[in-house]
Amino acid sequence: MKRTLAALTLAATAASVLATGIASAADPIVIKFSHVVAENTPKGLAANKFKELVAERMGDKVVVEVYPNSQLFGDDKVLEAMQLGDVQLAAPALSKFSRYTDELALYDLPFLFEDLDAVDRFQQSDKGQAMMESMKKKGLIGLGYLHNGMKQLSSSKPLRVPEDASGLKFRIMSSDVLEAQFEAVGATPLKKPFSEVFTLLQTKAIDGQENTWSNIYSKKFFEVQPYITESNHGLLDYLVVTSAEFWSGLPDDVRTELKAALDESVAYGNEIARSKADEDRQLIIESKRSEVIELTPEERAQWVQMMKPVWKKFEKEIGAELIDAAYAANQD
Ligand code: LMR
Repeated sequence: MKRTLAALTLAATAASVLATGIASAADPIVIKFSHVVAENTPKGLAANKFKELVAERMGDKVVVEVYPNSQLFGDDKVLEAMQLGDVQLAAPALSKFSRYTDELALYDLPFLFEDLDAVDRFQQSDKGQAMMESMKKKGLIGLGYLHNGMKQLSSSKPLRVPEDASGLKFRIMSSDVLEAQFEAVGATPLKKPFSEVFTLLQTKAIDGQENTWSNIYSKKFFEVQPYITESNHGLLDYLVVTSAEFWSGLPDDVRTELKAALDESVAYGNEIARSKADEDRQLIIESKRSEVIELTPEERAQWVQMMKPVWKKFEKEIGAELIDAAYAANQD
């Protein structure tokens, strides 16, 4: 009897060890990475790279599922979903965090950065890095900046000088700075999710929008917008973001490995951002669906003059010191 009991106990222990083993092998940590753009874009490719690296290096422990094209969540819902634990990673445009922090609005100021090198210099500075932590109290933490590129203006009419935009309706991301930027040239801005832009343009519910070459190309905006003004007037960049609760709850070794894979994927995406802007611009020109308008220095100066007063309007909210530091990054 004694022996039978001991044997039973042993068998039960073995079964439970086995079951635990099976459970942990069958239950890797799942990271849902939700984004709104096409896969063949800097963000889409960076997200896929991250999935690939994690599968290669820690496939038994972590699985990354990437949901592109607003399949899982659109811009308006993803951060709320993250706070609720329904999604673990996203990389919304810096313009889409206004409900969580005032600081990131800095990046929307028109004509702030001359190019991506200046953006890099600022983002890698202490001030730029500290901004990634500005939403910690709201349960969100930034893990890295990811580039897309400089924005252009697409429209149903040729836009050469600011007056050309007057009275036109433009779709914007959910940012008060971008709203003020279009109001400054007498246009009507409308905050709409990215997933609706193509239809709004196609049905002529709006006249234009601002975006990067890669988004204009991959979402086919150029097929329904006869003119694109190469204005490079603003920046479209992303913050790779996660929930503080999820991130701090990960085992230390997993978190370290994930961060390394993410840094590599972001660096890869940032390289692509630079080449893709030129490639997609060229593809749009070759399509002959849309005319690309290059501004003379005098024409561009008029846009700067009309839009730059927006800086003053948001100086208090963003912080004058932060604006000065970002602007100073143009001189290397
Ligand atoms: C947009 O809404 O225009 C962009 O933020 C989309 C994106 O994520 O690049």
